Amino acid sequence: MRATALFAAALSLVIAGGGATAQPAPSKADAKATARSEAIVSGRQAAFKLSLASFVGLKAAITRGDDPKTMILPASALAAWGRAIPGMFPAEAASPSSKALPTVWSDRAGFEARAADMATAAAQLATLAKAGDAAALSAQWDVLKGSCSACHDKYRAEEKR
Ligand code: HEC
Repeated sequence: MRATALFAAALSLVIAGGGATAQPAPSKADAKATARSEAIVSGRQAAFKLSLASFVGLKAAITRGDDPKTMILPASALAAWGRAIPGMFPAEAASPSSKALPTVWSDRAGFEARAADMATAAAQLATLAKAGDAAALSAQWDVLKGSCSACHDKYRAEEKR
């Protein structure tokens, strides 16, 4: 009993930050891995936000009837991002701050196929923009939008959990 009380007191010191030496310290390697995993999660979340900016920017440009040539860069950037998505979800980068569902890793083939679909849809949008095919842009943007949702539906948690 006495030993337990002492232990509890020591533990509360550690929790309060007063017992640095007594801490059963997670290894430096663990701390490094956690920091790395958080960096990957915040990096991919930022990239997804940037992709959203390009994505809505393209819609606005199409609606305004901008010169299709101005859409080549954002559309190709989205294609490159689509190809890069799977690499931004390594096994160790599942973290509480992430909205990625476990299916990203348990159904890897499906996840990679959805990323490839998005890359293809964006690349096709870039091709149409290069060709100056203004009439076809809007329908292709819808295809791209569908490719975002197809992945989110299965591999990303709802905004509000
Ligand atoms: C292959 C799957 C996949 C595709 C394709 C995809 N997303 Fe996502 N998206 C995710 C996952 C998984 C997350 C959650 C990432 C996390 O929190 O770790 C996410 C998160 C996001 C977020 C939230 C980022 C944040 O700040 O938390 C935005 C915005 C987003 N995606 C936009 C898009 C847009 C726009 C497209 C299409 C152009 C798209 N996504 C295509 C899987 C995908």
